[in-house]
Amino acid sequence: MPRAGHNAQNHGVVMSENIPVLTIDGPSGAGKGTVSRIVARRLGWHYLDSGALYRAVGVAASWANLDISDPAALVRCTFDTEVAFREDDLGDLRVWVNGVDATDELRLETTGAVASAIAAFPEVRSALKERQRAFRQAPGLVADGRDMGTVIFSDAQYKVFLTASAEERAERRYNQLKDKGVSVTIAGLLREILARDARDAQRTVAPLRPAEDAVLLDTTGLNIDQVVERVLALVSP
Ligand code: DC
Repeated sequence: MPRAGHNAQNHGVVMSENIPVLTIDGPSGAGKGTVSRIVARRLGWHYLDSGALYRAVGVAASWANLDISDPAALVRCTFDTEVAFREDDLGDLRVWVNGVDATDELRLETTGAVASAIAAFPEVRSALKERQRAFRQAPGLVADGRDMGTVIFSDAQYKVFLTASAEERAERRYNQLKDKGVSVTIAGLLREILARDARDAQRTVAPLRPAEDAVLLDTTGLNIDQVVERVLALVSP
């Protein structure tokens, strides 16, 4: 006879597999974040910003002055770091790291570069696995990242891989930062985007690539609404 605890655990796994997941993977700047949030809201599903978890660990590691080339220290930091996603009064998602609203720091290019570097350690990726899977809750989940469809939710019912030319991604990022008053150049952003793409695609563990069963969606020349409609059409044809 299986123990009661064992039963309950199996039961939980079966239930979770039945909960629909839409994975939205792709390189930085392809519009995943904005599209995923709108699609999640339209479907009434939960939303996982997996990049924010890597960014949060990077920020927590730098607050603690950790050596970010030391995987053992990073794994400890990953398990010790509390990350909470909360909507503010305007309905914008804020990310709290160890009790501090770190949203603005998480968005910095420098934080993205640290996240990309620590995300190359298999130990860090595996330390974040269960935390990401716990977001799979009824009535459904939209999961945004690099390996959502290939690794974390490889059994997802719906998978999308969003791309856009590096030039267009640099331009979109430029416009976002310009609106915030940050001074950057398109050429500089393009260099950073190409470097981050290369690092994310070339790492040996969970490299950035479309799942075999993902629908490829090139968003070059499309606006957010057009992308949202195409993604929604996959889930509710
Ligand atoms: O999506 P983002 O730009 O916030 O992600 C920041 C970095 O985190 C990205 O350069 C690579 C890493 N990342 C990852 O390796 N796997 C994910 N599922 C999400 C992000």
